[in-house]
Amino acid sequence: IKNIGLYTSGGDAPGMNAAIRAVVRTALYYDIAVTGIIRGYEGMIRGDFVPMHRKSVSNIVQRGGTILKTARSEQFKTAEGRKIAYENLKKNNIDALIAIGGDGTFTGAKIFGQEFDIPVLGLPGTIDNDLAGTDFTIGYDTAINTVVDAVDKIRDTAESHDRLFIVEVMGRDSGLIALRTGIAAGAEAILIPENKTGMAGLFDRLENGRKDKTSRIIIAAEGDDAGGAFEIGRIITEKFPHYDTRVSILGHIQRGGKPTCMDRVLASRVGVAAVEALRDGRSGEMVGVIHNEISYTPFDHAIKHSHEINAKFLKIVEILSL
Ligand code: F6P
Repeated sequence: IKNIGLYTSGGDAPGMNAAIRAVVRTALYYDIAVTGIIRGYEGMIRGDFVPMHRKSVSNIVQRGGTILKTARSEQFKTAEGRKIAYENLKKNNIDALIAIGGDGTFTGAKIFGQEFDIPVLGLPGTIDNDLAGTDFTIGYDTAINTVVDAVDKIRDTAESHDRLFIVEVMGRDSGLIALRTGIAAGAEAILIPENKTGMAGLFDRLENGRKDKTSRIIIAAEGDDAGGAFEIGRIITEKFPHYDTRVSILGHIQRGGKPTCMDRVLASRVGVAAVEALRDGRSGEMVGVIHNEISYTPFDHAIKHSHEINAKFLKIVEILSL
């Protein structure tokens, strides 16, 4: 391997910069060049490449976002788009790829690695934590801490006004952000796409549970079947008009901010491991950490087998919100 093409793709996640830094510095350590590809697959098709040096990654370990920028590319989904991308890589003497992103990124990486003769490895970068082959993804820890911080603030005002709050958190197809933050923020209930009985359980609590509570926080994943936080708020107001109900959608604040120590360390570990794995001849895999050890998971498996929801977590919420 002489020149690694490095890119971030899909939704950004805090800690991506720490991963970029780790890849660049490790490659230089082993005398391998790194070319940054701007805006992921879009940049690959447009030939938007920049050489990365030691100094290109100075002072970024603590910064949110991604210095390589990111995008979701429609053109890369076509065979013609991917062919243009490959020709651009060849022209620039890029002979291996490291992709940082989530399931969309790895779907592209998998197809590309099969179509063309170029090794590709992935680093798990998404706030959703919805990839198999790693206990946690880069960005998840920062995002859940942001959520907990925000909910703590909402709780202050909820308590002052004796209100019920529906707080919507990110996770288009996954309730993993909601699940953990629900416990940490002391939620009354958690609504997630993976649990089909969430709304019924919530109604039961509101009808038959303790009546002397002064405030209530319900955490809902944006992908929940109930139809979004405003719809949940509407239904609750209709069924339980005596609750003073408000809705708060946290949105993209969950994607920004300084990465936590956990995210920086995870990003650094998998960044170093990915370069070493390319040198060892590995390809077509995501590099993650399972039980504190580096692990390699084929893209297909990482994408298709998201973490199962731990039912105990839901039970914990029920018990602790007595
Ligand atoms: O996949 C990360 C994520 O933040 C999801 O939780 C969310 O549904 C989605 O991206 C939002 O995407 P966008 O920023 O493109 O609206």
